[in-house]
Formats: sequence, C-alpha cells, structure tokens
Amino acid sequence: MNWDSLVDIANAMVEKGKGILAADESTPTCAKRFDSIGVDSTAESRNAYRDMLFTAPGMEEFISGVILFDETIRQSTLKDGVPFPDHFKALGIIPGIKVDKGAHPMAGTDGEKVTEGLDGLSERLFEYYAQGARFAKWRAVLTITDDTPSSECVSANAHALARFAALCQEHGLVPIVEPEILMDGSHTIEDAFIITEEVLHTTFYELYAQGVTYEGMVLKPNMVLSGYDCASQSSADEIAEMTVTCLSRTVPSAVPGIAFLSGGQSNEKATAHLNAMNQLLNGSGPWNLTYSYGRALQAPALKTWAGSSDNVEAAQDAFLKRARLNALATMGEYTVDME
Ligand code: 13P
Repeated sequence: MNWDSLVDIANAMVEKGKGILAADESTPTCAKRFDSIGVDSTAESRNAYRDMLFTAPGMEEFISGVILFDETIRQSTLKDGVPFPDHFKALGIIPGIKVDKGAHPMAGTDGEKVTEGLDGLSERLFEYYAQGARFAKWRAVLTITDDTPSSECVSANAHALARFAALCQEHGLVPIVEPEILMDGSHTIEDAFIITEEVLHTTFYELYAQGVTYEGMVLKPNMVLSGYDCASQSSADEIAEMTVTCLSRTVPSAVPGIAFLSGGQSNEKATAHLNAMNQLLNGSGPWNLTYSYGRALQAPALKTWAGSSDNVEAAQDAFLKRARLNALATMGEYTVDME
C-alpha cells in the first residue's frame, strides 16, 4: 500500500468495509474507564489492555487505522516487544495519533471550552511522523444548551481545527477533523441538526480559508441525535435521514470519507445508525461513511478483559465482534439478529 500521499492515506482510512479504532484515551480518561472495571491504571496495565486490542487476530480485516495516545505510540506488543506503530504497519493498518491537548475553559464564555495544543505542534508532528504515524486527530467539544454553543466558541474551535489540519498536511499526516457536539442535555434532534449544520459550515469555511486540501482529510463528526435527556428519541431511519441531510449541506464531496464518533451511544445503536445511513445512501453518496469509534468498539472488550490475562482471548472476541458488525454497517449489510 502506498502511504506516501495524503490522498492515498485518507482513502485507505475510509475504505469500504473497514473503519478506525479510536484507542487514544488520554491517561485520565483511561483511568476513568479502568475504574469502571476495578483495575488500577498504570503504564503497564494500559500497555496490557492496548496489547489485548491490537493483537486481536484478524483485526486488519475490519480496521483500517488506529488512533493512539502519546504514551501508546511509544509502547510495544507484550509477546515480541514490537513497537505498536511497526506492529500495525506489518498488518497493513495505518497508525495515527491524537495530538490535541484537550478542551479547556474558553475566556469570555459561560463555561464553554476551546481545544488547545497548537503550541509546539509542528515539532510534535515531526516526531510522530518519524515514529510511523500517518494521520492525526484533533477534537473540539461543543455543548448544546439554551445559550450555547456561542458563535465565539464555534469559530474559535473551527479556527484551531483548521490550523491543526493545515499543519498536519504540511507534515505529511492526514488530519482527522473532529468537531464533536455532545449528547449531554435535553435538546431535540432538530436542535442538534441546526447546531451541527452551523458547526460544520464554520469548520469547512476555516479549512478552506487556511488552505486545507479536502481530498487529504477525514471528517469525524457526531451523528445528528437528540440529547440523552430529551423525552423524544428518534428511530434509526430518522437519525440517518437527518444526519445525511446535514452532511450533504455542509461537507464538500471532495472529502473522501466521514468517520463518525460514537459519543456515548450504546454499542448496538452506534452500529444500527451507521448501517441505516449506508442503506439510505445505497453506495451513491459522495463520501464513504464509516466509524472511528472508541467506546462503541471497546466497551464489551474492556468489560470482558477486566484486567486479567486469562480473559484476553474472550475480550478479543468481543472486540472483533463489534469491529465485524460495524464493518458490515459501512456497507449497509448489518441486521440486529447478528447481535
Ligand atoms: P467515542 O466513540 O467513544 O465517542 O470516542 C471517539 C473519539 O475518538 C473521541 O475523541
């Protein structure tokens, strides 16, 4: 596979029948996930957990790329001591890296956040490329309430996403541009549609203004969904229709693919919604629609693993099951009875 050109890498990341594993939880997020299974989060336990996922036999059939965290890109397989980026390269899986420094309080707003990490990013991208990374991720976080997101918050985050994306392309890495609108709150699906449309318009305006090549990037958006606390929850078909309409209004057809985040949806729903969108498009959309899930790919494996090497095989089976079902969903070929 030719991973030299941005366009080739971006296309390989969103290849039909495959998706991206987001395994880039920061150390504090990892500690939260490990708390839920009663495991101490240490460099060793995090290495063991990632090794369980990354050595799942045959994962390359369903996984095109893996997003790593700074600590993880420097760790290795337990059995043979192969650095994870080299391990992936041998499997034909593209290694990627989370490069933002998290969402921090934004001055002048009522508790909103802007993602930081542009300082020193050029040097870090240089190092990550040398370590084997061929794509990078930056996540902006927006919240829907009566008063938010403010236009300042939307535009500051879009500006940072575009600066990140332009820098990545300059360093030979494909940017995953992730403006995430959280499901927290009681907003309706119509509210989510309006805000997602505004955020994506603003983001693509900034990407254009800063000279980002659409053909060499991947968008990682939220699906258009009502908030967790909204009394009315939509059907998979309605979610698919609203999400595809919103994307068709905002995402240029030059973008090769859209890899959704799961955002706290249940494993089954994240799969069913992706499947419904691909059924709706029926192979005719301008972009490939795939997954870049964290929780919705890992949750059953994390629970089954529970920190014990005795459970590795069963945990890998749980991970591969979700990967396989989501891979089918990228082709609209998933059905609930496969669960
Ligand atoms: P979730 O799929 O768990 O939302 O995580 C995806 C991700 O990469 C968040 O940045």
